[in-house]
Amino acid sequence: MSTTTAQKSDIANPALAAEGKKRIEWAGRNMPVLQQIKERFAKEKPFKDVRISACMHVTTETANLMLALKAGGAELALCASNPLSTQDDTAAALVHEYGISVFAKNAIDRDGYYRHINSALDIKPQFVFDDGCDLVNTLHTTRTDLLDGILGGCEETTTGVIRLSQMTKDGALKFPMIAVNDTDTKHMFDNRYGTGQSTLDAVFRATNTLIAGKIVVVAGFGYCGKGVAERAKGLGAEVIVTEIDPTKALDAMMQGFRVLPMTKAAAIGDVFITVTGNRDVLREEHFSMMKDGAILANSGHFDVEIDVAWLEKNCKVKNSKMRHQTDEYVLKNGNRILLIAEGRLANLGAAEGHPAVVMDMSFSDQALTAEWLLTAAKNLKPGLHNVPAEIDKDVARMKLRSMGAELDVLTPAQELYLNSWEHGS
Ligand SMILES: NC(=O)c1ccc[n+]([C@@H]2O[C@H](COP(=O)([O-])OP(=O)(O)OC[C@H]3O[C@@H](n4cnc5c(N)ncnc54)[C@H](O)[C@@H]3O)[C@@H](O)[C@H]2O)c1
Repeated sequence: MSTTTAQKSDIANPALAAEGKKRIEWAGRNMPVLQQIKERFAKEKPFKDVRISACMHVTTETANLMLALKAGGAELALCASNPLSTQDDTAAALVHEYGISVFAKNAIDRDGYYRHINSALDIKPQFVFDDGCDLVNTLHTTRTDLLDGILGGCEETTTGVIRLSQMTKDGALKFPMIAVNDTDTKHMFDNRYGTGQSTLDAVFRATNTLIAGKIVVVAGFGYCGKGVAERAKGLGAEVIVTEIDPTKALDAMMQGFRVLPMTKAAAIGDVFITVTGNRDVLREEHFSMMKDGAILANSGHFDVEIDVAWLEKNCKVKNSKMRHQTDEYVLKNGNRILLIAEGRLANLGAAEGHPAVVMDMSFSDQALTAEWLLTAAKNLKPGLHNVPAEIDKDVARMKLRSMGAELDVLTPAQELYLNSWEHGS
């Protein structure tokens, strides 16, 4: 550990470093594609003299991404992309075992959260990683002095991509950002299987409830919502989906889920999970008709999907931390509502986030996209761009290989057939 690096950090508890290192290594074992990329980076040093600021969930999987970039020669500063998602042992290990600057503490307040983003930006990055667009937003609002030095960056999640595409439409985005979320190897697996499993994991850890026999209401049937609904069904729940998009609602129905508006589902559900990327999905009109003991969790990016402010203001009694990351609000009608992880990303606040096996793909996409950006950035206009399709396919191929699967290959006749239009019935 270098003392200077440690001084350039702000973490909760250095004593947790040894425990964090063990868990980072455990995650690393389950990220074979990223390990392969890291080994190549270590030889080729593509990021030599490159400064990168990253605003991401400080988890063991993110730690492995940071280690791959560091092996490639990058100078890094990492801050959290959510006040509740930091694993303090991971942060400690990154600083004290691996010499990476980290500015992140679990359960930090809003001021501290933005102070940490600013600290991560103090290295004057050339490239940025963001998860939800808070770092990019900070650059465009309060740290505009740094904009000229930024060559480009990568965005990890759906909500960040939505914010960046609005910035692009408004002509506000001053450098190219790449929508890593939109690769198939990211959203088809991380959002679906990762969020599905880890959100249910959060419900177990926070409440120890039995899902079998319960009615689980899932708000939003996008990639995350599908994953949550499938996992809840697999555990024996009856699943109700709420949607605003007719095609997504139809998809949910044909997969065997009931589709209802929240004004009807609210009175029936036992467990409510929001994954819409939208605000006020669960609000006063819904809380007032919920059953006694209803459990609420949000796995959408920001803590705006459940109107927690209303619960805080209007409950008769609040019993904080009844269990790990579970607050109880007793309403004026006497019914109790259980809220997981303060309405913030439940899977990261009350559980460990996605399993490393799935983050292997997302973070391999990130690592390879960052490497591509080193040379591609100068030719890209400011605005939101897609990851090159070859990177997506390469990650899929490497992941398949790591899972012991083999692909078929086209015969020359098949290749010709697929590339021609003359053949009909
Ligand atoms: N928890 C995690 O670890 C994790 C992982 C990936 C993404 N996310 C976040 O989860 C959210 C959803 O991501 P996604 O990839 O599933 O997005 P998506 O766009 O695929 O799906 C969102 C769905 O919500 C629906 N929706 C919007 N407003 C609604 C409303 N008021 N009621 C019901 N449905 C509504 C949309 O029609 C859409 O089908 C985003 O905020 C994303 O950033 C979280």
